[in-house]
Amino acid sequence: MMRPAAADLLAWYDRHRRALPWRAGPGERPDPYRVWASEIMLQQTTVTAVKPYFERFMARFPTVQALAEAPSEAVMQAWAGLGYYSRARNLHACAIAVVAEHGGRFPDSEEGLRALPGIGAYTAGAVAAIAFDRPAAAVDGNVERVMTRLFAIEDLLPGARPLLRERVLVMMPQDRPGDFAQALMDLGATICTPRNPACGLCPWREPCRARAEGTQESFPRKAAK
Ligand code: ADE
Repeated sequence: MMRPAAADLLAWYDRHRRALPWRAGPGERPDPYRVWASEIMLQQTTVTAVKPYFERFMARFPTVQALAEAPSEAVMQAWAGLGYYSRARNLHACAIAVVAEHGGRFPDSEEGLRALPGIGAYTAGAVAAIAFDRPAAAVDGNVERVMTRLFAIEDLLPGARPLLRERVLVMMPQDRPGDFAQALMDLGATICTPRNPACGLCPWREPCRARAEGTQESFPRKAAK
């Protein structure tokens, strides 16, 4: 079986890249503030639901300074409807910390990002890769599905996460980490779906171990709750 190549995924992404309000266009530089805010919003909410909130939120708080200076009632009000309000409180606390401790600029390393309120392993990896083109892994539910199927990884989640991060890092193209991270997310969201994945359209249909075995829908395996 051939090994999956990052180049095949990137070529697919170049053809099918979704235009999303927080995403920089090809060759554009992403705004770390917008990348970070979108990743917080997308944690328990779908892309479709987030889009209008994101646009309104950015119109109201266009910079991390504007968000940091806003009264918390205004932040909670702009968040209303997205749910999981601890995310909004952490978002505000993080903006205040970025301004107070980093002069209003987000740190560009995973370690620096992880030290901020509300930023865990996933968000730190996503912001480092997407906003700063650092070779960092951002393993969310979509990426877990893609990677466990691609390599037919039977280890149970969440225990398998460090292994999945490792696999992502090994494949990561050093010249396009941000695009690779987003391509993995888009592949999971649009092709490598939980049910009836569109394997015929997948750039990794040839190397995919689960597809070869016909076991796509049995991945990822999860520990009993
Ligand atoms: N889901 C979480 N983060 C995402 C992103 N940056 N693009 C698309 N879907 C996402």
